[in-house]
Amino acid sequence: MEFETGITKETRATISGALSKLLADTYVLYVKTQNFHWNIHCPEFFSLHKLSQEQYEEMAEAIDEIAERVRALGFYVEGSMESFLKLSSFTEEHEVNPKHIYLEHLIKAHEAVIRDCRALGQLAEDHHDHATVDLMGRRHNFHEKASWMLRASL
Ligand SMILES: [Fe+2]
Repeated sequence: MEFETGITKETRATISGALSKLLADTYVLYVKTQNFHWNIHCPEFFSLHKLSQEQYEEMAEAIDEIAERVRALGFYVEGSMESFLKLSSFTEEHEVNPKHIYLEHLIKAHEAVIRDCRALGQLAEDHHDHATVDLMGRRHNFHEKASWMLRASL
């Protein structure tokens, strides 16, 4: 059956493509946050270990919501680690870093996601896709709060 939701297939494809990029970035940032959670070694270990757990748990739920938004728009989700790494603009860390390096990498990644959320929110708004606008508002809010908390720990 064709979609009759007042939004063209081309627009749904454009928004889904941008959501897929956001999904990939969120997934890689989720793993980067877990890496930090496990390997961080500093006097503030316990508070940063707890903070990072709160952040990756939030992203685990968001990953599902972003992927389900792609499905609701009528497209399939590229749900493999291989495709996430290909689509994401983030690279993974393979060495144990000092605290400030981990924090800087995480803050930069959160800020990149905020820029994506802003652009995608605007695109969705231009096409009256209120569900995606709402999702972008909540993602934007989370990543801005997360980067504030990490920045305050520098
Ligand atoms: Fe843990």
